[in-house]
Amino acid sequence: MPQAPFFVLLLAAVVPAVLAQDGPPKTMGEKFGGLDILDSPGGLQGLTPAQYTKNQWAWGTLPKLCYDTAVHHNYCNPYDLEVYDVTYSDCPIPTTVCRCNNSPMTIDTIAQRVGQLPVKARQWNGYVSSFAGDYCSAYSDSFHNYFFGDCGNRESVFFHELSHNLDRHNWKETVLKGTCVADGYAKASWLEAYAQVGVMAGYHGTVQSIYTSQNVSCMVDQVKKVVGQLDGLWRKKPGQMCDRYWIKDTTVCMGPDAEASGNCPAFRIADAAEEVDGVAAVKAPVLPDEKQKKHDALVKELQHHAEVAAGISPAKPAAEKKTKGKKGTKFRA
Ligand SMILES: *[C@@H]1O[C@H](CO)[C@@H](O)[C@H](O)[C@H]1NC(C)=O
Repeated sequence: MPQAPFFVLLLAAVVPAVLAQDGPPKTMGEKFGGLDILDSPGGLQGLTPAQYTKNQWAWGTLPKLCYDTAVHHNYCNPYDLEVYDVTYSDCPIPTTVCRCNNSPMTIDTIAQRVGQLPVKARQWNGYVSSFAGDYCSAYSDSFHNYFFGDCGNRESVFFHELSHNLDRHNWKETVLKGTCVADGYAKASWLEAYAQVGVMAGYHGTVQSIYTSQNVSCMVDQVKKVVGQLDGLWRKKPGQMCDRYWIKDTTVCMGPDAEASGNCPAFRIADAAEEVDGVAAVKAPVLPDEKQKKHDALVKELQHHAEVAAGISPAKPAAEKKTKGKKGTKFRA
């Protein structure tokens, strides 16, 4: 442990570069000291999860998205990825979870936290990934959510990441009508400010009125706007079922060892975009070049911020860092 503070401190030096981007003015007030306040007692953390069954994929193949994320960013050795199809009672299409075998969250913890998300909102997330990290953090690429570390007691983080997938944008003016944002983290960017209010709207839809349980007058326009946009997704109704999902990715082989041992029988190409049991398979929209570039740059920033917050280095797998215990050494040079 002695090297941990050094490592975190060093990474902290990177943070201002990330936070310097366009976002709510630093002078705005902060309604909460972090949205984990909405987790418990009797908050988001206590929501009843949807029932589920889980089915682990045979070792050998992976969704391409999981392979790419793990390998390109050194989050996990592809041979160490466990893939599960988690099928909730409110949706015939499983949520596919990619879990690095050194993640501090068990597959059941992940399945339960995801299952606490109301289905009409949950159906806007595709793959869920979970990697090691010293601290809980996460990011979204607008279609899929990625977690580092132990977020098992932080349901608000799951609500936050899903809110990124539900983001309707264009809301800078709305923020500036008020005198505060959700918390300090909301000032990181307009996107983060939105996702934090997304959590508040989630609380409003699932736990109790945000207007009567909290005094949100300093940011009431933000709350009204996001509640207006997302309440239909967050508010659970009995018997609700999913009606859409992001089309599943192609599968790939973990690598030559899996190939050699005969564990990569057949590659499956992406599912055809057709209805399955009344559930529409939706292909991620293709954006015009400029918009795509802008989107990718924003995701990269969210991702980098999550890496920093998790205390992991993108240059070194969290797994290696943990087992070899030589945190930060590489950065001294
Ligand atoms: C709510 O907070 C504002 C300040 O943000 C204050 O002016 C107002 O009196 C408060 N309202 C209630 C009902 O406490």
